[in-house]
Amino acid sequence: MAIISDGEKFKPETTRENISPRETEYDHNFENSIRPKTLNEYIGQTKLKETLLISIQAAKKRNEPLDHLLFYGPPGLGKTTLSAVIANEMGSNIKTTSAPALERPRDLIGILMNLKNNDFLFIDEIHRLNKVAEEILYPAMEDFTIDRTIGKGEKTRTLRIPTARFTLIGATTRAGSLSGPLRDRFGIVHKLEFYSSEELTQIVKRTACILNTEITDDGAQLVASRSRGTPRIANRLLKRIRDYAMVKSDGVVTEKIAEKALCMLNIDKCGLDITDRDLLKLLIEKHDGGPVGIETLAAALGEDIRTIEDVYEPYLLQAGMISRTPRGRKASAEAYKHLGYKVPAHQQELF
Ligand SMILES: Nc1ncnc2c1ncn2[C@@H]1O[C@H](COP(=O)(O)OP(=O)(O)OP(=O)(O)O)[C@@H](O)[C@H]1O
Ligand SMILES: [Mg+2]
Repeated sequence: MAIISDGEKFKPETTRENISPRETEYDHNFENSIRPKTLNEYIGQTKLKETLLISIQAAKKRNEPLDHLLFYGPPGLGKTTLSAVIANEMGSNIKTTSAPALERPRDLIGILMNLKNNDFLFIDEIHRLNKVAEEILYPAMEDFTIDRTIGKGEKTRTLRIPTARFTLIGATTRAGSLSGPLRDRFGIVHKLEFYSSEELTQIVKRTACILNTEITDDGAQLVASRSRGTPRIANRLLKRIRDYAMVKSDGVVTEKIAEKALCMLNIDKCGLDITDRDLLKLLIEKHDGGPVGIETLAAALGEDIRTIEDVYEPYLLQAGMISRTPRGRKASAEAYKHLGYKVPAHQQELF
């Protein structure tokens, strides 16, 4: 095993391919064209869909807006997509915004005042709402009113202005950062789970069909198995493999072509990319498997802490490559094996 001395800076494998689950500018238009529009088209998340369907049907029967919903989970699992699907299933309009765009109170008030009955308001990254915006939302969520203070000094009065009866959908990658009072005001709170290989295979086939790309069953399965349980990554990989298939062969995405393209993109058998492998190597080579504090990892990899926590870690944890301990992150025996290192005795005892 290559041991790097403490003073030496850890050198990442090569320049990073951006295969992160975060949405990029590049994905944006492409994603809009392939987003499912109905619950039927929305693949996977079966339990969540069942519960939602009941809530939707009940709300429709009562002719009332749906309870406020909060979706949380790692990027690229379909929170935004599902929110639009729900609004569509309710036959309602959806207004989409994100917490960083609501810095000034009047922006949020303006949006709330313009909503119509049964409309949906989608706020992305809701954990980033500021205190003032949160306080505007509380009465709006509870009683469909906004409290506005007018006048100055002794003449200050609070006006209660009614809003339409709307449904708020909040999405976040970090439910833990949401304030308690805000979280408590959501009637329905759901975590989105990573997708199974079978579900991702269906997603890949569906996208290939929309893109008019021919794909074999084993080709689709291979793409799915390398997509870290994440539809956004599955779709993005498919798009790149499709380019490769067009240039290097007859355009059909077969298992062999997919394998070659993924190799070129530096995606390994577990779907790990260079940053994932750098992170694991750092733990193993420099810190003897860990535990290592998140700050140290972030500094050595040149990433910010949030990116590591929100983007890279969830899948590495799910895949059993790392574990989180109170003293920091540890590489598992699985990680040693995956990267071709001998599992040290102390790690074998622990895992
Ligand atoms: N269940 C699904 N079935 C089919 N395609 C899906 C599904 N979920 C997501 N997708 C596809 O994956 C892409 C990413 O989904 P989406 O933008 O909804 O993720 P997100 O959870 O909102 O991510 P972020 O946290 O970055 O905002 C979309 O293009 C969508 O087409
Ligand atoms: Mg989103």
